[in-house]
Amino acid sequence: MALSLSMSPLRRRHCLLVLGFVVFVPFCFFVLFSVPDVTSEQILVQRIAELQVKLQYLDSIYRSRQEDLRKLSEHIDLLSMPPSSGDNTSFITSAFLELRPEIKQMIKNMSGMAAAQGVNPPVMLRMPSSYHFLPHLLDDPTSLRLAYLLSKGRIGVSMVLGVPTVKREKQNYLMDTLQNLIDGMTIEEANDSLIVVFVAETDLEYVLQVAKEIELRFPSYIESGLLEVLAPSAAYYPDFEKLKITLGDSPERVKWRTKQNLDFAFLMSYSQSKGTFYVQLEDDILARHQYVTEMRNFAIEKTSKKEPWFVLDFCQLGFIGKMFKSAELPWLITFFQMFYNDKPVDWLLDHLLYTKVCNYEKNNDICKREKAKMWIHYKPSLFQHIGTHSSLKGKVQKLKDKQFGKVALFFPHSNPEAEITAGIKHYKQYTLKRAYLGETFFWGLLPQPGDQLVFKFLTPIPVKRYYFKSGNAEHPSDKFYNTTVEVLPVEAPSFFSLTSASNLTSDGYVIVGKFDSAGIATGTVDDNFGKIQALRLHVHSDSENWAILSEIHIQDELATR
Ligand SMILES: *[C@@H]1O[C@H](CO)[C@@H](O)[C@H](O)[C@H]1NC(C)=O
Ligand SMILES: *[C@@H]1O[C@H](CO)[C@@H](O)[C@H](O)[C@H]1NC(C)=O
Ligand SMILES: *[C@@H]1O[C@H](CO)[C@@H](O)[C@H](O)[C@H]1NC(C)=O
Ligand SMILES: *[C@@H]1O[C@H](CO)[C@@H](O)[C@H](O)[C@H]1NC(C)=O
Ligand SMILES: *[C@@H]1O[C@H](CO)[C@@H](O)[C@H](O)[C@H]1NC(C)=O
Repeated sequence: MALSLSMSPLRRRHCLLVLGFVVFVPFCFFVLFSVPDVTSEQILVQRIAELQVKLQYLDSIYRSRQEDLRKLSEHIDLLSMPPSSGDNTSFITSAFLELRPEIKQMIKNMSGMAAAQGVNPPVMLRMPSSYHFLPHLLDDPTSLRLAYLLSKGRIGVSMVLGVPTVKREKQNYLMDTLQNLIDGMTIEEANDSLIVVFVAETDLEYVLQVAKEIELRFPSYIESGLLEVLAPSAAYYPDFEKLKITLGDSPERVKWRTKQNLDFAFLMSYSQSKGTFYVQLEDDILARHQYVTEMRNFAIEKTSKKEPWFVLDFCQLGFIGKMFKSAELPWLITFFQMFYNDKPVDWLLDHLLYTKVCNYEKNNDICKREKAKMWIHYKPSLFQHIGTHSSLKGKVQKLKDKQFGKVALFFPHSNPEAEITAGIKHYKQYTLKRAYLGETFFWGLLPQPGDQLVFKFLTPIPVKRYYFKSGNAEHPSDKFYNTTVEVLPVEAPSFFSLTSASNLTSDGYVIVGKFDSAGIATGTVDDNFGKIQALRLHVHSDSENWAILSEIHIQDELATR
């Protein structure tokens, strides 16, 4: 029964062989009939390496299907077995028929002996599973069911990016992080990637709120399937009040690191079948442009050089920017499940590698060298931390990756000549005037209701388009909140009073736009306003943050660019 249901290892190997043939043969033709030159050969080697890793990934998916089949057939086998209370002879005779002739002869020769009856007993070995390490999962049938999933079911991509996020007391950088991850991708990269946002919270109201915010901000990427949002069932977590206190850490810290292990295990388990490579990220990071291609090329280069690796490390900090082959994720997931209450997640990664490659009897330097071969660092770093507040309450996170290098903190534009008045006090040399001239960004201290930044044009101009971007890469929260863009026309707009008088302020300015949740204010000004003498940004609420203007662009004609 079992044999007829599941494919034999031999047939599986044949299957993969055929798959390999279909893929490789065209390339062999390509090699034979093209002029051999170094670059095309290199490309070929890389392409083959790429396919090798992809094959590993497909093989791992295939294997998990096989596992399902096996479980099913074991179940059927058990059902078809004789009840243990009856006599054992019927099972012996049926098993007896399948034996090799020499063995049959031997058994016949041993007739009457108890030892002859030990062949093919109806006993199945039970190996420990996740439930052994996480027994609480058995208490609730929904423990491994997702509590929330927003997904278009994208699968088979090159790169899966895992972004765990938790509720934060202070600043939340998730939206800025996602914006940055998406902005850093080309269209092709976005088409071959998947960003999985794991909301590691059991408060469904909060999960829905995050999902809603993501959809409102990135509707096209939810639609295209690039972005997914999921959350675990509350029963997935153990009782955090009953954890073992380990390593002499405070209960709060034990709880925090234990949950992180379980969160990573969940996110990795979900992501494992979605693509060839998996990269662990966090919700408060910045990425270098075209990071996906850089990571992919590095992985393929290592594979094509036959350098075995377990982790490719694209950031020096914690667990950020660590890349794995999806096919090898089960190693990590199982390790996390075994020791989730014992060590922090980044130590476990190190321990796993130690266990894999270090010789206990040799010295530490050799161990380090062996580990470095399997855990390869890439420079410069592709990811950087933003934000100063870690999600562990009260712990200020100042760790920055020195290998990341500088990021552009503002983008200069040329603007019409204007007299500038800043109603918000600036910090250090970051004045509004210098920002307007494109020399730096403006950095103002705590905006208050009524504060104004006024640009009074030396000669009135028809404002065609304006663009203000607040916040920057290092300080994404330093945005303008509840702030309007207002213009002062030379002549009172007669048509306007007819359309929407509510946009008119008491001092003759007209509200034409406002800063959105991404911290951007942009728009056009109706031609009917004629020439404009001044444009201002007008703050309406108290802010908990300072405010940065990293781009200022006022256009008096729609430029060619
Ligand atoms: C059947 O097998 C069990 C052990 O597997 C043994 O204890 C029992 O005596 C056997 N019964 C007969 C009738 O051989
Ligand atoms: C069967 O047992 C007898 C006596 O123990 C031995 O001489 C003979 O070689 C055995 N035959 C086989 C096929 O094992
Ligand atoms: C995206 O990928 C799919 C399948 O790999 C391909 O058919 C499609 O043309 C790609 N689209 C773009 C815009 O690259
Ligand atoms: C009125 O102000 C709002 C922003 O508060 C803006 O979206 C709208 O375009 C303005 N109307 C006109 C006619 O400028
Ligand atoms: C913006 O400020 C005004 C005036 O203080 C206030 O009435 C309004 O609720 C604020 N809007 C938001 C979204 O905070």
